Amino acid sequence: MSDYPFTFTIPMPSAVPSGESNHIQRRLSAMKGQFLDQQAYDQMLAVEDTLVYEVYEIPRPHQAGELLSGISIVHPGKVGNEYFMTKGHFHQVLDTAEVYYCLKGEGYMVMEDPEGNAQVAPLAPGVVLYVPPRWGHRSVCTGRQQDLVTFYVYPGNAGHDYGTIETQGFRKLVVEGAHGVEIVDNPRWKR
Ligand code: F6R
Ligand code: ZN
Repeated sequence: MSDYPFTFTIPMPSAVPSGESNHIQRRLSAMKGQFLDQQAYDQMLAVEDTLVYEVYEIPRPHQAGELLSGISIVHPGKVGNEYFMTKGHFHQVLDTAEVYYCLKGEGYMVMEDPEGNAQVAPLAPGVVLYVPPRWGHRSVCTGRQQDLVTFYVYPGNAGHDYGTIETQGFRKLVVEGAHGVEIVDNPRWKR
């Protein structure tokens, strides 16, 4: 890990950052209970433990004053009619924000605050999304064949709270409906 100012590049189309990074892979098996259609999930998993998304995190200390940045890549696919997505989380230090810059693909950022206010923002190349403090977030890839690739930056001390989302999911789901992408209410969600 460099203690000097440093640069790196994000070569396209791979979007794998040059230089040192921590590569995290999330497969279907790591997402039990996250997709609404449990039967479709079990059937898919029985065939293959598909790669759903990957993160390349630029290594920096997880402490206040630092910025953690990296690339998030959500692959195309669906479980039932629900598009592939990240697990999603609140920041453990709730009062910390995050910026996302979309480099490639199409999709949405599904967000909500602890009071249950929900927002779903479209992502396309060139879109910068500011996720304010307190808003949980999950990225969803709605492309048929293309990855959703975003660059993100957030405070080094933010930490992640996955438990709240694991329990009941986000208030809104992104699904394929009769006429394409639809944002619908999550029937499992309770205030
Ligand atoms: C960091 C952040 C992103 C996500 C990444 C994977 O705070 O929001 O780097 O960590 O998109 O998603 P999760 O962490 O929900 O598995
Ligand atoms: Zn985050």
